[in-house]
Amino acid sequence: MKKITFIGTGYVGLVSGTGISDFGHKVTCVDIAKDKIHDLNNGKLPIYEPGLHELVKKNMEAGRLNFTTDMKKAIQDADVIFIAVGTPMGEDGKSNLKYVESVAMTIGKYLRTYTVICTKSTVPVGTGSWIEGIIRSSNKQNTPFDYISNPEFLREGSAVKDFLWPDRVVIGASSQTAFDIMKEVYGPLYINKRSIVHTSVVTAEMIKYSSNAFLALKISYINEVANLCEALGADVHMVSKIMGQDGRISPKFLHPGPGYGGSCFPKDTEAFVDISKENGLRMLTVEAAIKTNKKQKIRMVDKMKKLMAGNFNNKIITVLGLAFKPNTDDIRESASIDMIKALQDGGGDVRAFDPAANDAMREVFPNISYFNSWEEACQNADGVAIMTEWNEFRGISINRLKSILRNPIVLDTRNILSVKKLKENNFSFDNVGHLIER
Ligand code: UGA
Repeated sequence: MKKITFIGTGYVGLVSGTGISDFGHKVTCVDIAKDKIHDLNNGKLPIYEPGLHELVKKNMEAGRLNFTTDMKKAIQDADVIFIAVGTPMGEDGKSNLKYVESVAMTIGKYLRTYTVICTKSTVPVGTGSWIEGIIRSSNKQNTPFDYISNPEFLREGSAVKDFLWPDRVVIGASSQTAFDIMKEVYGPLYINKRSIVHTSVVTAEMIKYSSNAFLALKISYINEVANLCEALGADVHMVSKIMGQDGRISPKFLHPGPGYGGSCFPKDTEAFVDISKENGLRMLTVEAAIKTNKKQKIRMVDKMKKLMAGNFNNKIITVLGLAFKPNTDDIRESASIDMIKALQDGGGDVRAFDPAANDAMREVFPNISYFNSWEEACQNADGVAIMTEWNEFRGISINRLKSILRNPIVLDTRNILSVKKLKENNFSFDNVGHLIER
């Protein structure tokens, strides 16, 4: 059993810290935000993530997981310290590393016995040596430590599952001692024969960015294919399904949609492009994926405008789905933001519903109306835009939808409604490259 400290109780820190406590280690999650720690100690989580609440409760009750603001004690008690603070995208499109910098300085200041210090936050490739340097400069007692990188591959909405059953665990470490300690930390996975890969720090950082950028690239690619399918009358679902049967391609991340969002792909692709430019190279494929993604979001607005006969003025328009994907309340970079903004700017009366993200969107758009079900939100509307593929939207009865709308108009940016039923009910509709009924 190892004593582990997670600094930062955001999305990554909370899920990973809880997951590691479930492996049987004693985990302390520390944060400077007193309110957050108070809430966590009272069983209130700052994020919505399926399965997390139960896992936190179970491990707190077992005495393996605790939350504190006492940074000094948490650092000095740990065998392994994970840096899991946010690296938000700054105005210049670059990752803002001020929280990482401040945590690294604090760790160096309080360090007293040999400790493995591990970055879990997503930091630009090459940042590891900079972080290690900061720790070293504030480590006036010259306490020995090893710096390592352990990138995360968690998807919001299925993060608990992704943590407990990962495809792989990447440990970037120059020291064999540190790698052996991390093998113990992830011991239960090793027993289950999950691959735990030992690389250098910079290679681990590179794996993280290359993976995210590749997935973003796949999405932008299929979105462009979908757009061409529309022009040619082909069905993108059939195209991606059959493409995916080729083992070299795989069917995953080939779902067309309104453009990717979230706190990772938009930020990480921009950072990847920057890193390559700083090294005298261009990532032209990734640059194109970013451009395509921005265009795809605008394309959804154009589709809606076309369906609404060219303008939104004084029309009641319902947006179903606000989160950037289902099973999360996260709206960062969500395509629904672009949609709502355009509807509002065009003089539309915007109504919205999301099973989890109404409150988050209210902070961005306080002046639109929020509802508690799709049926309420669609009452008497002139048109509907579905932006997120929540299961409850997949089950929407087209007959019922028609009966409550003023005008049967729908834009299905996630291709979840039956084209056949929409046609039978004389809907005026559009989607993303899926014109033919399956
Ligand atoms: C992503 C990666 O999938 C994780 O492996 C990674 O750890 C994480 O970023 C991170 O760096 O922290 P996440 O952003 O939570 O995870 O969500 P995804 O499921 O990857 O979806 C991202 C966006 O792509 C969403 O807007 C989603 O709707 C869109 N998407 C995804 C598509 O439009 N089509 C697809 O086929 C898949």
